[in-house]
Amino acid sequence: MAKVVVTTKNLTKYYGNTRGVESLDLEINEGEVFGYLGPNGAGKTTTIRMLLDLIRPTSGQASIFGLSTSTDTVKIKKRIGYLPGELELYKNMSGSDLIHYFAALRGGVDWNLVLQLAERFKYDMKKPVKTLSSGNKHKLGLIQAFMHSPELLILDEPTTGLDPLMQQEFYRLIQEVKKEGRTILLSSHNLPEVERICDRVGVIHDGRLITVENVSELKSKAVRTLEIHFASQVTAADFDNLEGISELKAEGRVVRCTVKGSLDGLVKRAARFEVVDLISHEPDLEETFLAYYGGLAN
Ligand SMILES: Nc1ncnc2c1ncn2[C@@H]1O[C@H](COP(=O)(O)OP(=O)(O)O)[C@@H](O)[C@H]1O
Ligand SMILES: [Mg+2]
Repeated sequence: MAKVVVTTKNLTKYYGNTRGVESLDLEINEGEVFGYLGPNGAGKTTTIRMLLDLIRPTSGQASIFGLSTSTDTVKIKKRIGYLPGELELYKNMSGSDLIHYFAALRGGVDWNLVLQLAERFKYDMKKPVKTLSSGNKHKLGLIQAFMHSPELLILDEPTTGLDPLMQQEFYRLIQEVKKEGRTILLSSHNLPEVERICDRVGVIHDGRLITVENVSELKSKAVRTLEIHFASQVTAADFDNLEGISELKAEGRVVRCTVKGSLDGLVKRAARFEVVDLISHEPDLEETFLAYYGGLAN
């Protein structure tokens, strides 16, 4: 059995009458990449801020490394890296000064690692923080989160604002951290992203955890719409008896349908004809999860 690194029990936060999260029971295991997935306003940041003891739960509790998040905060923070959703920085310092400052707060870090991270993310440490674009501030945030090789990384929407190349670099970094047996908790509102980089995913909606699943299970439930363009006319009958296919319509040379789970059957059937184009619409988070779990979310 893997060691549990993060545990929450009945963790609840209300902002006045507004539900932040309610009765959250979560366990994150050592060495896994755990995706915390939900649309805006779902309660991701609220949960993460409670884990960091930046806000206090209305009720319930959480522990990290077996230590209480509300009484052992200092001990916990030494062992984790945190990327906030919105980073507040001292604007008049250069990135380099600021990272030195963060490093000093941590009792020093391996500066080579800082340089490597800056290089990987193409981040210019000399620039004053006030001149940085939001994407570059985000990179600075990532560097300070990873620079001390923490056992646990808690990253609030880490790829928001990163351009596609930097996102790929970030995904590589995540894989390296995972190979070293370290643990990652990251929030996201992007289903394809968590499918790609996470081992397990907890889905939160309206402050409630709807499900926790392995990514493979999640993929088998994903619903996407597909549009296939052929060189000549096809009919709906050409695509009958396929598993997981619904709402199939053939119009002239184009077939549109909804596919649940694997695309394999449909792609093989389509290959009987000359395919000109294939367009897949990525499953929308709201659509996919509300279709499956909407009934449970209320
Ligand atoms: N400081 C706050 N005061 C009042 N309501 C808040 C505050 N922070 C978050 N909320 C509310 O709590 C809910 C969850 O928000 P949040 O945790 O930020 O979601 P997410 O990070 O998933 O987008 C939302 O309804 C949001 O409006
Ligand atoms: Mg948030």
